[in-house]
Amino acid sequence: MADELFAVRWVGADEEGGPAVRLLDQTALPGRSEVLDCADVATLAEAIRSLRVRGAPALGVAGAYGVVLGALVDGDADKAAAFLSAQRPTAVNLSWACRLVAAAGADVDAQLAEARRIDAANSAACTAMGRHGADWLRERCGGGPLRLQTHCNTGMLACQGIGTAFGVAHTVHDDGRLAQLWVDETRPLLQGARLTAFEAATLGMPHAVVPDAAAAALMSAGDVDAVVVGADRIAANGDTANKIGTLTLAVVAARYGVPFLVVAPVSTIDFATSTGADIEIEERDPDEVRTALGALRLAPDSSPAHNPAFDVTPAELITAIVTELGVVEPPYATGIAGLR
Ligand code: MRU
Repeated sequence: MADELFAVRWVGADEEGGPAVRLLDQTALPGRSEVLDCADVATLAEAIRSLRVRGAPALGVAGAYGVVLGALVDGDADKAAAFLSAQRPTAVNLSWACRLVAAAGADVDAQLAEARRIDAANSAACTAMGRHGADWLRERCGGGPLRLQTHCNTGMLACQGIGTAFGVAHTVHDDGRLAQLWVDETRPLLQGARLTAFEAATLGMPHAVVPDAAAAALMSAGDVDAVVVGADRIAANGDTANKIGTLTLAVVAARYGVPFLVVAPVSTIDFATSTGADIEIEERDPDEVRTALGALRLAPDSSPAHNPAFDVTPAELITAIVTELGVVEPPYATGIAGLR
């Protein structure tokens, strides 16, 4: 049983169960709080693939410690980096962090120091993004109470720190201005209903879980002041890959004139990818769509299902991108280049 909310921890060789990458198994939440110690790279890879740990920044931290584990257990950091990076192709933080740690030197101590640096930098970036986002919302939407809508899970479980988009809502809440957080349930794996609602409830934030399909009804009724979402990869022109359904929210937000904010650390920007068309979209098991979390069959076995994990929101639908270094507004190509 976990006594605190976290995504990833390093367990050193001198600690009980170490060396290992410790995860809070997110597939068990919110019903059970279970810790999983991954003592080898294959176990960690399975955990990444099956979303026991997930969310772009947390995947980066898991990958970073996983490379250290590979160096310690198998004596091969590069092999671990390549193997772990391949588990979730869209979330660029994973391959970015694996690459950085593997390149930190042949010395495992140097690699561990780099992994710890990435971990700490993630948390610090979340705090900064939360402040920048909350200040931007005050400027653009006024100083009154705010009703925000969010998608998927971008909180502590996805990031280690207070979160990206969720961190903005958290900061607005700390400022005493959060009137409502509309939490999209986020089909098919329900990261919103299971994880974001769990975090919001734990923090005492006013929130309500809504079906993904409720976005247009909420926005047309004037019940949303801004949409805040995270990102798995941002191309150099601002096109943004995020959890499937994000594009629908962006289209609806544009239709009803609701500001649409992407909140992500600079490590989620893939400067080498020029547009969203070049972002690889992870295709997942059709049974995630055909069943309710594997427990209940929703569609016949014989019906094919298409299960893209992410979609790409074109830059033109994004009002602003909030990073730890500040808020970027269109034209994104110039603003993003300035973050390099
Ligand atoms: O498939 P997941 O649960 O890893 O998808 C997560 C998301 O899409 C998040 O919005 C994104 O990683 C940003 S997390 C701060």
